[in-house]
Amino acid sequence: MTTPTIELKPSSNPLSDAEREASMVNPGFGRHFTDHMVTIKWTEGRGWHDAQLVPYAPLSIDPANMTLHYAQEIFEGLKAYRQPDGSVATFRPEANAKRFQGSARRLAMPELPVETFIAACDALVKQDEAWVPAHGGEESLYLRPFMIATEVGLGVRPSNEYLFLVIASPAGAYFPGGVKPVSIWLSENRVRAVPGGLGDAKTGGNYAASLLAQAEAAEKGCDQVAYLDAVEHKWVEELGGMNLYFVYGNKIVTPTLTGSLLAGVTRDSLLKVARDLGYESEEGRVSIDQWREDTANGTLTEVFACGTAAVITPVGTVKSEGGEWTQGDGAPGEVTMKLRERLLDIQRGVAEDTHGWMHPL
Ligand code: COI
Repeated sequence: MTTPTIELKPSSNPLSDAEREASMVNPGFGRHFTDHMVTIKWTEGRGWHDAQLVPYAPLSIDPANMTLHYAQEIFEGLKAYRQPDGSVATFRPEANAKRFQGSARRLAMPELPVETFIAACDALVKQDEAWVPAHGGEESLYLRPFMIATEVGLGVRPSNEYLFLVIASPAGAYFPGGVKPVSIWLSENRVRAVPGGLGDAKTGGNYAASLLAQAEAAEKGCDQVAYLDAVEHKWVEELGGMNLYFVYGNKIVTPTLTGSLLAGVTRDSLLKVARDLGYESEEGRVSIDQWREDTANGTLTEVFACGTAAVITPVGTVKSEGGEWTQGDGAPGEVTMKLRERLLDIQRGVAEDTHGWMHPL
């Protein structure tokens, strides 16, 4: 398959330096967008074509666009970090590109070549480099590659044309409280995904499905919802948009990828970073009873959530119909914070990148 060359059509009306800088102070998450975006089309019989870097602008969509009706949509999230020498590097774009291909297969969409995915992210970051926050803080430039169906029609079948886009947004802490521990509502009746379903694809429907449970979590005074498996309602799977880790002293354990969980890039990175720091790390099944009992008997010392947007966020309290408990003393745990610091140090270019994860631009 040939990779289309990305043609640059720069914005004639970018934000002024002052406007851009204002939106980069406490950027929050996903509220401001850079001046440009990448668009690449796919058409049946022609493949990928018309790759462009164009001014960020609304899309014009026919009301009968298939995505609006049948949700053939997939996305990714990755970050670009300012390095100590002022250059910029993205974190593991190849891992995101490969996961994007897996999501495309599951949603019966065309696979974008890995090199095109990376070239599209690179082109946008290079063009809008001024939007990458300064080195050293919590901030980064969050990239959101995504693909939608663009055929117009109401028949239920795969679209015969698609649009791939990359947009970018300066990002601070995902949770308004920063690295403050979050509270979790353990949803024992709602499930996020079922075996054989879409749980391991990064598609909007999984996030839409999480919103009601997330609202119920908020009603219970919690920040996030955690799901159990759909068959036995027993095994801990993940949060609405993040993976989970359980810390047993010197060992960290994350739920096994059963097919109904998302294979998080941060999750995978931490399995390795933990070993670099001298901890044991493994995938395994953790039941809700084990979570409760191991907290009570003191063997489960910390719990944290992880994802590209949220990096690593400690879990402070857990509530369920059966009761409520606090992880450790409710404050961020030592292992959680050491892993967080090391991962961020690699991403910011101050710890050695022994795994070759950083992709310089
Ligand atoms: C990410 O962490 O990049 C995600 O896509 C999760 C989303 C809830 C922001």
